[in-house]
Amino acid sequence: MSATSQPVDTHGDRYGNAFLLSDAPDNRLPDVGMPAVDAMRLLGEELVLDGIPWRNLATFVTTWMEPEAQRVIAENLHRNYIDHAEYPQTAVIEQRCIRMLADLYHAPGETTGTRTQGSSEAIMLGALSLKWKWRARREAAGKPTDRPNLVFGGDVHVVWEKFCRYFDVEPRIIPLQPDKYTIGPEDVEPHVDENTIGVAAVLGTTFTGHSDDIVGINDLLLRLKDEKGIDVPLHVDAASGGFVWPFLYPHSEWDFRLEQVRSINASGHKFGLVYPGIGWLVFRERSDLPEDLVFYENYLGKTDATFTLNFSTGSSMVLAQYYNFVRFGRSGYRYIMETMQANTRLLAKRIADGGVFRLIGGEDEEQLPLVAFQLAEEHGYDEFDVASQLAAERGWMVPAYTLPPNADHVKIMRALVKLTLGHSLVTTLADDIATACETLEQKGGLHELDRQRVKTGTGY
Ligand SMILES: Cc1ncc(COP(=O)(O)O)c(C=O)c1O
Repeated sequence: MSATSQPVDTHGDRYGNAFLLSDAPDNRLPDVGMPAVDAMRLLGEELVLDGIPWRNLATFVTTWMEPEAQRVIAENLHRNYIDHAEYPQTAVIEQRCIRMLADLYHAPGETTGTRTQGSSEAIMLGALSLKWKWRARREAAGKPTDRPNLVFGGDVHVVWEKFCRYFDVEPRIIPLQPDKYTIGPEDVEPHVDENTIGVAAVLGTTFTGHSDDIVGINDLLLRLKDEKGIDVPLHVDAASGGFVWPFLYPHSEWDFRLEQVRSINASGHKFGLVYPGIGWLVFRERSDLPEDLVFYENYLGKTDATFTLNFSTGSSMVLAQYYNFVRFGRSGYRYIMETMQANTRLLAKRIADGGVFRLIGGEDEEQLPLVAFQLAEEHGYDEFDVASQLAAERGWMVPAYTLPPNADHVKIMRALVKLTLGHSLVTTLADDIATACETLEQKGGLHELDRQRVKTGTGY
């Protein structure tokens, strides 16, 4: 029988693409596998359906690293970070990163912290520390410990509510106001009492990129300590801002320069410029980490201490963080942040000059490198239509969403301006936004069926 008269699937082995003739394995581990090249191609072909990360202007997470950093990552994927006994130098490098961050955040002396999977794990651990310390204070004073609460604004990331639910703490969520999207001391004061384990403030919110009034909240907590004798610690969620403020706004005080700030989290995989899978928690002083939360184990005669929610994980992103620290140093990070800021300003100007949108926040306000904007007046379409039209016409992922209560009538669009959005792409994006609006002006907003499919999240 000639090759051409055989059924098509008998040629699969020879040409290495048998997978093209069947569905991708889905709900059951296949009985037999496939050649390595086929498996690689199968995945490649599935993933074309995902968005292109470079066009994802919704995400705060790093979408590009230098080839040398990528090499460090690829060469260390097989190293288990938690295995300090076998990989002691990786542990040394983690500690260097923590010391560098503690110094950057003006810790008053020697302190401690930990590498985490991201800010969410760092926040869980930081908030657990607040709870443990509060309980110890209450027990020492002979007072009840059954009703802990945590105070934070509606502008926080969902992880804060998650912590409260998982670890049995009452969330005291301060609603936003129709025209105020961050919180300050006057908002916090009515919610704080002797059962408050801490206040969480955000440096660079997910919604608009602005900061809570951390100086004001610190002053309030100092006053409460002075007047009422309740010592309420402040945790700063610097998931995004922790690598932006020190370089763009070095004189702005939000960190351990403020007395009540006891712990800070930052996402290495956001403006720390590392690929996803790295976060940091840094304490003001060693004593801010309750000893009970540290687990000691004896491994081959050596004592190892861990403070994590996860255990085994790759070393690559810790090493990649250190790569960035030594590669860029302070001046490199400053240069990168200023580059992003310059392109942010260009995009903001182009969007505002078009006349269709207004910007959220003033030019002189401290903000993450992003442009948050909304339609300046009523049209036959809204921000969700613009986001969808822009995606359909040019593939840009620029999210539209509503703010948390009591500002949930406010619709916003937001574009992150990271290193992959340079001057000329910013110009293109601004033109594309204008074109999408022109299209909508002519054809009107989306059909109801399409609107039901529009994404409404902020992106992370
Ligand atoms: C302010 C803030 N906190 C916490 C998080 C959670 O961070 P991660 O994704 O690193 O766990 C985010 C993520 O966007 C954030 O913006």
